Amino acid sequence: MKEKVVVAVKDLGKTFISNTKEKMTALDKVNLTVNEGDFISLIGPSGCGKSTLLRIISGLESHDTGSLTFTSEDENNGFVFQDSVLFPWKTVYQNVVFPLEIKKQKTKETLAKVDELIEMVGLEKFRNSLPKELSGGMKQRVSIARSLSYNPTVLMMDEPFGALDAMTRDTLNLELSRIWKESGKTILFVTHDIDEAVFLSTKVVIMSPRPGTIKEILPIDLGEDRDLAVRGSEKFIEYSNYLRGLLEH
Ligand SMILES: Nc1ncnc2c1ncn2[C@@H]1O[C@H](COP(=O)(O)OP(=O)(O)OP(=O)(O)O)[C@@H](O)[C@H]1O
Ligand SMILES: [Mg+2]
Repeated sequence: MKEKVVVAVKDLGKTFISNTKEKMTALDKVNLTVNEGDFISLIGPSGCGKSTLLRIISGLESHDTGSLTFTSEDENNGFVFQDSVLFPWKTVYQNVVFPLEIKKQKTKETLAKVDELIEMVGLEKFRNSLPKELSGGMKQRVSIARSLSYNPTVLMMDEPFGALDAMTRDTLNLELSRIWKESGKTILFVTHDIDEAVFLSTKVVIMSPRPGTIKEILPIDLGEDRDLAVRGSEKFIEYSNYLRGLLEH
């Protein structure tokens, strides 16, 4: 079966002009093809342009050179940030419904899906709670449900679990892997954590800094059904050691 391309990035470049009027090339000749159903992680040293690339693909930032093509008709992208920003005065349910209100997509069907999503992230008991009543991990889960509520073509996640402790992170990694499998979504994910990248992804994109370029794209062949035990497997350890080596040089 031929893979369906969702996003094609060709020779993409971005230069920022700093406060002191200096040119800073954040991205140079970046090429990346995102296929439907891919789970792609971007890893690389701080400042190599991971967030910039994600922001450009999601339309939050412009690019200077090269091209960005969406093959799907609607460029409907979801974004989950490192610090989930939820409306403090809205309940979990109201936060998840909010994008549908903004996009005027509130219908019987989409609202039914909101309850499914809240269940999918395991928060049905907290449907009517306020964000201040939730833990950090639970807030991230609300943020994930919210970004899925309007059925985005590509879900972009910029270090969504960066601020969480290792155990919560493990739980959310498992959950995200399940959500990805169940929803069939295409996900672009940024992380600093090599093991997290290997565990979640179908492909890991390694970036190098100044100017940010793609060093290598490593396909991860660990099957779709992954549990945390896979991290002890020979293949997994080989992948992470290889990536660690690439990042050191
Ligand atoms: N709005 C901006 N104006 C000027 N420079 C910027 C802007 N956004 C990013 N940069 C610069 O572009 C480069 C890439 O930044 P970016 O945030 O994409 O890196 P990153 O790989 O996400 O890093 P981190 O891992 O620390 O989050 C950095 O050198 C940064 O200073
Ligand atoms: Mg970043």
